[in-house]
Amino acid sequence: MANVKRERTLVILKPDAVQRGLIGEVINRIEKTGLKLVALKMIMATEDQLWAHYNKDDAWFLKKGEMTIKEREAVGMSVDKEAIEYGKDIVRALVKFMTCGPIVPMIFEGNQAAGIVKKLVGSTEPLSSDAGTLRGDYTIDSYGLANVDERAVRNLIHCSDPAEDADREIPIWFKPEEILSYRLIAEQILYDVNLDSIKE
Ligand code: PPS
Repeated sequence: MANVKRERTLVILKPDAVQRGLIGEVINRIEKTGLKLVALKMIMATEDQLWAHYNKDDAWFLKKGEMTIKEREAVGMSVDKEAIEYGKDIVRALVKFMTCGPIVPMIFEGNQAAGIVKKLVGSTEPLSSDAGTLRGDYTIDSYGLANVDERAVRNLIHCSDPAEDADREIPIWFKPEEILSYRLIAEQILYDVNLDSIKE
């Protein structure tokens, strides 16, 4: 079995989370699960970092572009280019948005970290994120509105999904020496088998 206690996931607080004063709230919600914060910084991202991060393939561009075309048609807008180009526009808009102001990348570590964080963050589109999730509770955007306005969806947070994406994403944002290795006192109650040592 993989060392699940050490699974890492990347979380990025996007410019909308920073501007809305939600940095503390998001960290608070994730920290309270027992996951361990092992890296954190506030930066202005480069376009190169964003293109590496959102490395989507043609199948993704096509699928998303077809959605955009339907959304444009639904509101009577013209369709002026191929679906694949509308799909690429989504990443172009994301790159523009993610470089418009400070962002806060961080890494959380612990049992099934990626799945736990994804559950708290909620589904990508705020419109359909469950109440109780960070996106469901703190924002209101939809793909339809974002695509028709030709901007990135304002969904506050990026988190690695699926878990394997973290291995590719983390090196884009952190050097190995920026990721700290330490033990939290709480890990004893979260993971240790023999708890004799917490008796008086
Ligand atoms: S998916 O649906 O799982 O394939 O997409 P995902 O990999 O989560 O998407 C990557 C980012 O693209 C944004 N996104 C969109 N924006 C506008 N319109 C549409 N239809 C759309 N689909 C995805 C979304 O913000 C994702 O970024 P993150 O940083 O993960 O939120």
